[in-house]
Amino acid sequence: MAVSFLDLSRQHEPLKKELLHAIEQVIDSSEYILGSAVARFEQNFAQRLKASHCVGVNSGTDALLLTLHALGIQPGDQVICPAFGYVAMADVIPRMGAHIVFADINEHFTIDVEHVRQLMNENTRAVIAAHTFGRMADVETLAQMTAEQGVHLIEDCSHACGAEINGRPAGTWGTAGAFSFSPERNLGCIGDGGAIVTNNPELAQRLRLYRDHGAEAENRYVEIGYNSRLDAIQAAILDVKLGTLDEDNADREANAAFYQNHLSSEVFALPDPGPEGSHVFNYYTIRSTMRDQLRSFLKDRMVDTRIYYPVPLHLQPCFEYLGYTEGHIPVAEQMAKEVLSLPVSPGLTRQELEEVAHTIDLFAQTYTTPTAG
Ligand SMILES: Cc1ncc(COP(=O)(O)O)c(C=O)c1O
Repeated sequence: MAVSFLDLSRQHEPLKKELLHAIEQVIDSSEYILGSAVARFEQNFAQRLKASHCVGVNSGTDALLLTLHALGIQPGDQVICPAFGYVAMADVIPRMGAHIVFADINEHFTIDVEHVRQLMNENTRAVIAAHTFGRMADVETLAQMTAEQGVHLIEDCSHACGAEINGRPAGTWGTAGAFSFSPERNLGCIGDGGAIVTNNPELAQRLRLYRDHGAEAENRYVEIGYNSRLDAIQAAILDVKLGTLDEDNADREANAAFYQNHLSSEVFALPDPGPEGSHVFNYYTIRSTMRDQLRSFLKDRMVDTRIYYPVPLHLQPCFEYLGYTEGHIPVAEQMAKEVLSLPVSPGLTRQELEEVAHTIDLFAQTYTTPTAG
């Protein structure tokens, strides 16, 4: 039986009528750029996250970029980000002329708080902490530590829409929370989209300026900005899908719990769900020292998996100029060799989950696999 990693059409099927109606409403409204559909979604998303402001933008990348710009990050500044994750967390930093400082990660794939503490110096202006794979970073410690030093904490919530710790949502622990709504995300649109949430009204105001060429009013440009607006049709789609976010996250958590109960924690390192609600499993990522063999074993049996992320950021060619080499950031390097993400999205059937677990079990029985790291 074939199991695909992610079948988005299956997720959209039950919502199709509502989605088409939402698109039709935008078409009929003639408000295609920053109209009421964008405003409505921003209001609903801010409310859902208990944040004062939400600014819709065209991608998660620009959510990070505009945040750095609006915070005045400039040449001479240092920004710390994790060495393991998606490239956008890091490549936005030199675009501001600032210096990237890579921090290592912990066994939950999130930024190592103690390493951040060691790396912070008088030039550090911001820390980008990603809630990698949906598991929230240690935001309680990070928020306190950065606030004490007058450093901005920017949460990259791209994988963790709807996650929370002690009832406080991801995105509201620091200066700002950046979200990607690309299709694979827990809240994903049908194309590109993103947003920033913040409780700082001046920051929200600057973000609104920057996303729209610095336009304060029609034909009046007070800052040099970007065209980074959230598309009206994508906003309308997101508004519909926001209605099923909690249900979808509950499905993801149930699928993860199935794996937790059916995969051998003696053979594989399984992800720790953490405190209740703090992991929303955008990805279910296990570790094995025989990762590549396991992946091809699964592929031969038509179980689709992904490797996020096979190369740590400090070893990517585009960051060679920073001078990092193998051995500099050991945990990130080890994780990159061992991680394997399994299908976990809502809509997976029990039969499919059983197929994945059974095939992995077969692998474990066929090979002697030492516990990952
Ligand atoms: C952690 C993280 N941050 C940022 C981004 C960038 O988002 P986008 O693709 O919407 O620009 C991604 C994209 O997958 C991501 O995974």
